[in-house]
Amino acid sequence: MSDVKDRIIELKEKKGAVILAHNYQLPEIQDVADFIGDSLELSVKSEKIEKDLIVFCGVDFMAEQAKVLNPGKKVLIPTKAALCPMAALLPRWLLERYREQYPGVPVVLYVNTHADAKALADYIVTSANAADVVSRIDSDRILFGPDANLADYVAEKTGKEVIPIPPSGHCAVHQTIAPIEVQELIEAHPDAEVMAHPECTRETRKLAHYVGSTSQMLRHAKESGSKKFIVVTEKGLVYRMQKEMPDKTFIPIETAICTNMKKINLDNLLRSLQEEIYEVEIGPDIAERVRQTLIKTRKLLEK
Ligand code: 13P
Ligand code: SF4
Repeated sequence: MSDVKDRIIELKEKKGAVILAHNYQLPEIQDVADFIGDSLELSVKSEKIEKDLIVFCGVDFMAEQAKVLNPGKKVLIPTKAALCPMAALLPRWLLERYREQYPGVPVVLYVNTHADAKALADYIVTSANAADVVSRIDSDRILFGPDANLADYVAEKTGKEVIPIPPSGHCAVHQTIAPIEVQELIEAHPDAEVMAHPECTRETRKLAHYVGSTSQMLRHAKESGSKKFIVVTEKGLVYRMQKEMPDKTFIPIETAICTNMKKINLDNLLRSLQEEIYEVEIGPDIAERVRQTLIKTRKLLEK
């Protein structure tokens, strides 16, 4: 193990800290993490942690979500530069306008939004539960943002009118995975099963046998009888898949890289633990409103 890795593990234990990492994190970050998961799993996990210091290796909105759910704990992100560009596409002021334009229409926000916008949502979802939540809402018309591809996927799954806000919000990493790229991989590996993230365009999703969140794809690969998979999402997930399923083969989309996720590295993780930077802070009123909306969403799923 590298010296930096050793020091991270030593310091983490000494300080009683927990490292949470998203499935897209660099391999070396995944290797030192206590828990790796998709957005939903990381939120749930953050609440079960008994330690008071959480170092979140993921992008801004994910660390914010952990802070919202754990107001009494110190939540750190190793660099403030790890920003999800899609989360910035639906700021609070814009959401206020859509609310005025569509009075009475329930607003469902993808977890990939900032806390101040989330405070105006009726429900908050991740890619793992978006369709399930929308299917249970007592309305056939839903405002959904900021990912128009996920909105389209939810509309397909639920048969409801899902209005994307903004109309063409997207994640550039998934949007730019061209169907032809996937098609070429299918031709090269006709025995492979294709899995895709719902942030992909409809044309790309149509080529997949299975569509799901990052961890849902991981679970699907474990349960499937197939031995080979084309993984249509950010490339980082393939490291975890290959590590946990060494007897299976995973083919990534080589160009699908979220540079923001990759801004977290061993050096800034070590510094984060040493200096306890950068602390995630959310105003208590905003945090409380978001927490209540998350509780409301969970209750809807329990019905
Ligand atoms: P998951 O919740 O599926 O891990 O996705 C998060 C994300 O940002 C996908 O781009
Ligand atoms: Fe945001 Fe896309 Fe990166 Fe996910 S892959 S964190 S949606 S930019």
